[in-house]
Amino acid sequence: MAKTLSVGIIGAGGIARDAHLPNYLKYGDKVEIVAVCDVVKQKAEQLATDFNIPHVFSNYEEMFQEIELDAVSICTPNKFHYSSTIGALKAGCHVLCEKPPAMTAKEAEEMAAAAEKAGKILTYGFHFRHSPQVEVLKRFIDGGELGGIYAARVIAMRRRGIPGWGVFTNKELQGGGPLIDIGVHMLDTALYLMDYPEPDTVFGVTYQKLGTKKGVGLMGSWDWENFSVEDMARGMITFKNGASILLESAFAANIEKADEMNVTLMGDKGGADVFPLKIYQEKHDSLIDISPTYLPKQNYHELELKRFVEACLEGTAPISTPEQGVYLQRIINGLYESALKGEAIKISNSILV
Ligand SMILES: NC(=O)c1ccc[n+]([C@@H]2O[C@H](COP(=O)([O-])OP(=O)(O)OC[C@H]3O[C@@H](n4cnc5c(N)ncnc54)[C@H](O)[C@@H]3O)[C@@H](O)[C@H]2O)c1
Repeated sequence: MAKTLSVGIIGAGGIARDAHLPNYLKYGDKVEIVAVCDVVKQKAEQLATDFNIPHVFSNYEEMFQEIELDAVSICTPNKFHYSSTIGALKAGCHVLCEKPPAMTAKEAEEMAAAAEKAGKILTYGFHFRHSPQVEVLKRFIDGGELGGIYAARVIAMRRRGIPGWGVFTNKELQGGGPLIDIGVHMLDTALYLMDYPEPDTVFGVTYQKLGTKKGVGLMGSWDWENFSVEDMARGMITFKNGASILLESAFAANIEKADEMNVTLMGDKGGADVFPLKIYQEKHDSLIDISPTYLPKQNYHELELKRFVEACLEGTAPISTPEQGVYLQRIINGLYESALKGEAIKISNSILV
């Protein structure tokens, strides 16, 4: 690696503390965490104390004016991904923005255009892409072992997993509930493995049946009186190449399993489940299942950060691109719009060519 990367953190909450900072710190003198910014200055100060960060700000514009940074991690609630990404790109920084890319497709488009204009990296925190299951399956897919993938199921379902911390149940700050928070991870995983086909039409339904009532919380006690997001979203997505995805995502639903995150892919030569990884094929007059007896042990967040640092210092290409972020955001916002209107929504204007 060529030089030291000066990094700033915007948003001093859970994901910054648990995933970004500890993994940046694995780089010794290759990465220097120079500044942290949080609108709640005490949170930035606490993080600075805990991780030995020299500069603290409560306003990222001030941070960009006063300190020269090479790269920024954006770890704010979803509402501020857009403005802080645009600010960082204008200040000449590479950006690793947490998922989802933004609140709207228009914001994601402007973020992609700003990255292009600045000539800087913009990538998103879709850490499941860095899992061994996805990496190994991608090699099977690239080797043609599933054939053409024409159908998928996306599951991000929790029985009573409404977060009891943060702002995950606040529509104004997050843009939505399980669909934009956890469904987005599995949807991105499916799209990545399907080579990000161009979306055509979406049909979505959302429910708010359990989140607004007091109840058992397997992820802490949530603020049920101010619960303003959906507690379940379901949808169908069709693509210009004829493929389709069925999606289900819930913070709370009356199902057996406490938590299920999975993608099922169906191709004309084989299929697969991703979590846990299992491949289904027809060979030599038999139906066979392949499951790995060994997978490399990988810390998904560590690899995500490693690849971001390498992209910044060595010019390697990040696997999550701004254009994919636009497709994803169009699907998410299309599903919400469809649920609101009660009709299917046609998605147009391809920018992935
Ligand atoms: N990749 C993952 O699996 C994963 C997991 C958790 C959260 N996330 C994402 O990370 C982001 C943050 O989530 P979190 O759990 O850390 O939330 P959090 O609430 O713990 O932390 C967010 C922090 O941002 C600060 N903040 C709010 N507005 C700001 C602004 N304008 N400028 C600077 N700071 C601001 C808040 O004060 C807070 O300290 C969300 O977008 C979420 O979707 C991703």
